[in-house]
Amino acid sequence: MTKVLVIGAKGQLGQSFQYWAPHFPHFKFFFKDLPEFNLFDENQVEQFFNTTNINIVINCAAYTGVDSAEDEPQKAQKLNVEAIGSLCELSKNFGFKLIHYSTDYVFDGTANTPYREEHPPSPIGVYGKTKEEGETIMKTAGIDGWIIRTSWLFSLYGKNFVNTIFSLLQKKDEINVVNDQLGSPTYALDLADSTLRALDQNSIICGVQVYHFTNTGKTTWYGFADKIKQLTNISCNVHPVETSVYPTKAKRPKYSVLSCEKIKKEFNLNPRSWELALEDCLKKIK
Ligand SMILES: NC(=O)c1ccc[n+]([C@@H]2O[C@H](COP(=O)([O-])OP(=O)(O)OC[C@H]3O[C@@H](n4cnc5c(N)ncnc54)[C@H](OP(=O)(O)O)[C@@H]3O)[C@@H](O)[C@H]2O)c1
Repeated sequence: MTKVLVIGAKGQLGQSFQYWAPHFPHFKFFFKDLPEFNLFDENQVEQFFNTTNINIVINCAAYTGVDSAEDEPQKAQKLNVEAIGSLCELSKNFGFKLIHYSTDYVFDGTANTPYREEHPPSPIGVYGKTKEEGETIMKTAGIDGWIIRTSWLFSLYGKNFVNTIFSLLQKKDEINVVNDQLGSPTYALDLADSTLRALDQNSIICGVQVYHFTNTGKTTWYGFADKIKQLTNISCNVHPVETSVYPTKAKRPKYSVLSCEKIKKEFNLNPRSWELALEDCLKKIK
């Protein structure tokens, strides 16, 4: 039986793996997160790998605060870069394949057609820079694994755009949402399911491959919020505004749509539209 360790199991992607685990009975899953499994605690981590023969590590742990990363770059660096270096060393020592996630924010957003995997990264904020450095460490470590870049992750778990807007719509009569950044919302349940389907195909993982995975279609944060309003039938008015009206600590790419042709073709995946995924998410939230 293939033994799979999911790190960061209490985050939104980690919980999505927990949701699907019973549907993949030939994988034996181990779900770990803080405090009992801290990537910075060498003893804790090595003890686990010494006593459990893990075949695949799915790393969902990350520093994901895009704005807070600007204020605490060392923290972002530690989790998004140094911890990836440690995971790569462990991969060499214990022989597991590493599945790791990265972000559309490794790109600067100046493109106007979907970013392909080989497009040179050029991040414009601390979060994106640390994620790109983590990618580089993994690509050059001489291990086997996948880096799966995704974007605008939402789910029924934790704090994310859908939960935030759903709660604001219920509390307020009017909200303003930025309408000049384009991207593809991605349902964490769909990302976890597709990752497991790809792993399930007995694929030989040799060297490090980069893939993009998002739900299909694109929108702005305003379009995303307006769809949440429509699907929940809440009367709050949603207004489109420019990013300049709501400046954030970290700059965001204006355009971060990812081309997902490679993962779709190699693993015969057929991701649904972000609108259908959102409908499913809201049904589960309600
Ligand atoms: N969220 C997005 O919109 C988005 C977009 C594109 C790509 N991604 C990428 O997708 C992946 C998953 O993101 P996510 O939104 O699911 O993240 P998340 O919800 O922030 O989950 C990360 C998890 O890692 C845990 N963690 C933190 N420090 C750790 C440590 N030292 N050792 C072990 N676990 C630790 C966190 O615990 P605490 O909560 O207790 O700190 C949390 O449970 C990340 O690689 C992220 O960069 C996310």
